[in-house]
Formats: sequence, structure tokens, C-alpha cells
Amino acid sequence: MCGIVGYTGARNAADILVGGLTNLEYRGYDSAGISILDQSGISTIKAKGRLQELACKIKEVGKPGAGCGIGHTRWATHGEPSDINSHPHRTPKLSMVHNGIIENYLEIKKFLSDKGYTFESQTDTETAVKLVDYFYKGDPFDAIHQALERLEGSYAFGILFADQPDTIYAVRKDSPLIVGLGENENYIASDVPAILEHTRDFYLLDEMEIAVIKPGSVVILDLTRAPVKKERMRANWDIAAAQKGGYPHFMLKEICEQPKALTDTVHPRIRHTRPDFSADDIPADFWSQFDRVHITACGTAMYAGTVGKVLLERLARIPVDVDLASEFRYRDPILTDRSLVIVISQSGETADSLAAMRLAKSRGITTLAIVNVIGSSIAREADFVLHTYAGPEIAVASTKAFSVQIAMMYLIAIDCARIRGMIDDAKTAALTADLTQAIGRTRELLDLSGAIESLAPNFMKASSLFYLGRGLDYALAMEGSLKLKEISYIHSEAYAAGELKHGTISLITDGVPVVALVTQRELLPKIVSNIREVRARGGHVVVITKSGFDLDADIYDEIIRLPDVDDFFMPLLAVIALQFFAYYIAVARGCDVDKPRNLAKSVTVE
Ligand code: F6R
Repeated sequence: MCGIVGYTGARNAADILVGGLTNLEYRGYDSAGISILDQSGISTIKAKGRLQELACKIKEVGKPGAGCGIGHTRWATHGEPSDINSHPHRTPKLSMVHNGIIENYLEIKKFLSDKGYTFESQTDTETAVKLVDYFYKGDPFDAIHQALERLEGSYAFGILFADQPDTIYAVRKDSPLIVGLGENENYIASDVPAILEHTRDFYLLDEMEIAVIKPGSVVILDLTRAPVKKERMRANWDIAAAQKGGYPHFMLKEICEQPKALTDTVHPRIRHTRPDFSADDIPADFWSQFDRVHITACGTAMYAGTVGKVLLERLARIPVDVDLASEFRYRDPILTDRSLVIVISQSGETADSLAAMRLAKSRGITTLAIVNVIGSSIAREADFVLHTYAGPEIAVASTKAFSVQIAMMYLIAIDCARIRGMIDDAKTAALTADLTQAIGRTRELLDLSGAIESLAPNFMKASSLFYLGRGLDYALAMEGSLKLKEISYIHSEAYAAGELKHGTISLITDGVPVVALVTQRELLPKIVSNIREVRARGGHVVVITKSGFDLDADIYDEIIRLPDVDDFFMPLLAVIALQFFAYYIAVARGCDVDKPRNLAKSVTVE
């Protein structure tokens, strides 16, 4: 949610900033801008719309020469997308980019207005910029420090001062920021992909540390101005992982990367035919310490948690609550010293998920994070972390992250069931083997993509689409529906198939498309009856099922047959079919699949 990049060194800063923003555009694409500081002062260019608009404007006005600079790609919170509301925001003394929300900006605006300041934008950021300006008397550290004392909310700031050549100042609270380390050149960025082309080495900036970044040095100070010794980190993602690699969209690339992402995440955690989390520093008796699990997350990650609930309850017989993080944190959840809170997040920076985890920690509850981005806030603050190894996920719609999150939930459920004595060693080994087999068979899904693509023309004009399922299939139906609506803009809802007749069936009329998931044998007669109810009202039914199920041809208009693995592991396959289905419909409708309107990846505001 908003991307920041900064560069100081001998190369052309504008080129490097635009390149970095290209790799950060998934964090917001309402507008973009850069500021360059050179001998003549600070020049700023910004443009509403996609990064391409900024690139054109830079060409028009002429590329600034060498110098140091900061850039920003915006996901609008305060104030509509417009040139004026774009970052960087300026005063004659300084220029600043911001990711986050200044909660007390009206109060600060009043304070500064009383001192004679005027405001041109509708943004919260402009108040922070002018507050630093107000305190700036030649000492950047002092001005930033004084401003931080007054600012409430979340922020990552990159700041240039007109009289501080070659230097970027940076600070963060509740929004991510890293300092990239090069040879006689250095960077700041919201996320690793922005700088991967230039360096894989970086420092993670901790909360309320002020970084002073010059071409030949990076000094990080705490608020008492004492230098902080930082650990040099190395990103294990290579640049190819953050590029499209010949695919038309990141989303398609990421769907196709799932067999590898699953293997990378699961295989290192299987030893002696059972899950083994010892390399993750999870104590051997970990799961026996709890009598209730609370899973909290947002969006797709929350649906992964919903699958996890079914797995854990069925196998380990431990009660599991699943909450949207934005609800969990405000509903005063009942937690005891035998509760485990699991937070699931691809980015590790989602504001609500982070806040939910902090709430649990503040009550002394053990927290376990399932996170894809190493070094992210959630990964750093959780008591225990299980990293998924999906590599960078760039498309706004989450695909491979969901798969590795549920794969992790399978490992947890099997291990938890074993430790709690619900399954013996033989069953543990059998389930672990089934999991590995299901992962191996996800490759076959890639061959089904053509058949799924050929269905897209039948649905691209639909105004509404329903997803049905029972049990594990219901959890997946919710994810399939979210995927479709967020990238194709077709209205869609998911229902537990048995619930349809309690109201929703009134929406089913002639030709209304319905995707029915049929992968669970024990629920087969029930879901088939529900499908017949839909057919009887004229619904156009696509069935997604296992090749082993013998279904009467009169219950569907279209059918997608998935490889046959144990029902319990079918979500690993079915979700890929749902992702292809949503993807090809969105492509057929001409949608911008990787950057759906109004959305951004990594939602660092509440
Ligand atoms: C949907 C999607 C979002 C994210 C949600 C949580 O495709 O990507 O719903 O799943 O914003 O993000 P993370 O997992 O980064 O916490």
C-alpha cells in the first residue's frame, strides 16, 4: 500500500527510481512521482495514473541529471488520485514520500495553519511534510525527531533536504522500509523487489530508527542519536523471480509457480515420514501446550485459515476459531494461557493482521505467524514463525501464497494430531505421503489450463456468479469467488451449498452461472442434490470435481475433472482450477489482471 524507493549514488537517480517503482507498482497505482536533489536544489515531477504517465512526463520535462532522489507510487487514502495529491510533497526546504496514515493530521494542520502554513493537497502526508519543515533549522535529525513526537499513525518516510546534498533520511513506524546496500551507492525501499536489480543486501530499518543514507555510508541512529549496529541481510529472491519471465501477467506466472512453491515450502519440513518443524525452532511438544487455536488474517489469507480450521479440527480435534483480523482486534476475543493465535499473511505487513497479533501478544498469548516475506513486521514480532517459500508474489490477487499457506496448515494439522495422540505413526506417515503426492500432482493442473480457458467466453458477460461447496469445498468456494470478483469485477458470492435454500436460491434464474465444487465423497449425495435444486431453476452449472467421481451428466453444463488424490488434500488442486477460471474470465473481459482497480498489495493501512 504505497511504495517508496530512494537512491543516492553516481548513477542517474531518475532512471533507478522509475525502475524501482515499476517493481513496486503492485503496492498502489493511483499516481507516482519523484524528487531529485542536485546542485540546483530539489526538482519534483509527479503524475496521476499509472507509472507510465510519470515516465512520459519525465520525458516531456527532461530527465533530471545525476543526484540523489526519492520516488513514490500511491494508493490513495486521503484525497482523490490527482497530480496535487501525488507524492513527493514539497516545501522549499525539503521533499518527502510517505507510506501509511497520519491519524492526527487535522490537529497538525490546525497547529501549522496557526503558524501561517497553507496547504494545497487533501492529503495527510502534506501535514507531516510541513511539520518537519516547521522544525527544520539546519539539523535534519532534530527536525525529524521533533516531528515524530507529534505524529500519530503509521509511516515510512523518505526525506530529502535541499541543503543536505547526496543524502536521504528515512524513518518508519508500522509501515515497512529497508535500506539497500550497494557499492558507493545506497537505496531505500518499501520492499525488496524494488532494489533487487541492483543489490540483494539490505538492512531492515526498525521502528523509530532514523537512517542517514549517503553514497558511501549508511548511519542508523536511535532517537537519542546513538548509532545502532544493524545486521546485514541478504535477500534469497533473485531478480528473475520478481519479473514476468515471458508470461503475459504476473498472476499467470504465479499460478504456474505453485508446484515449485509447494515443494519448496513442504519438503524441507518433512523428515522421517512426518512433519518436522525443528529447523523453524518450534519445540517438539509445541502443539500440546494449547487447547484452542485462533487463526486471524485478512482476505485470501483468512480463507487459507478457514481451510486450516477444517484440517485442524478434523485431524487434531482441537477447536479453532477463524477471524478477520479487522474484527478480531476489536471484539475483545476470549483468550487464555492455553490459546494459540496463528496469524497468516503473505506480506507480513498487513496492518490489521499485525495489530491483531500485537493484541494477542499484549495479553501474553503465544503467537505463531505463517508469513512469506522474511524480515517483515509480522515475521519479526511473532513468537514463532513458519516461513512459506513462495518467492515474491507481485500480482495483487494472491495465488501461490494461498496454496503454500494451506500446505503449511496441512503440515501443522498432521503434526498437531500426532502430538495430541489423535493419529499414530502409521497414519502420520500415510497422511504425509498423501500430502506429498497431492503436491506432486498439482503439476497436472497446468495442463488443464487450456480446457479452463476455453470456458471463459461462456462467463465473461455474466453479471453475477455463484460458488457452492460443502466442508472443505465451501472454504475454497469463498476463495474462488473472491478471486473472480477482485480481478474481473463480476459480482460473485460463495455459499455453503446447504444454505442456498434458506434465501439465496431466489437469485438463481435461467442462465445464472454457478460453480459447484464437488471433491468430497462423504458429502457427494448432499451437494448433488443442491446442484439439482439449482438446475431445476435454470442455473448454468460448472462442476469442478475429481476424475474418480461418477456424476450424472444432467447435473452440469460444463465439467472440470481434477486429478484424483485423497479428498482431504483436494483443496491443493481445486484452488488452482479456481484461479485459472478467474484469471481467464478477467483476461477475456480485458481487465488489468495484475493491478485490479482500487486495490493494492500489502495493505498497510487499517
Ligand atoms: C486477495 C488478496 C488479499 C490478501 C489480503 C491479506 O487476492 O490478495 O485478500 O490476501 O490483503 O494480505 P497478506 O496475506 O499480505 O496479509
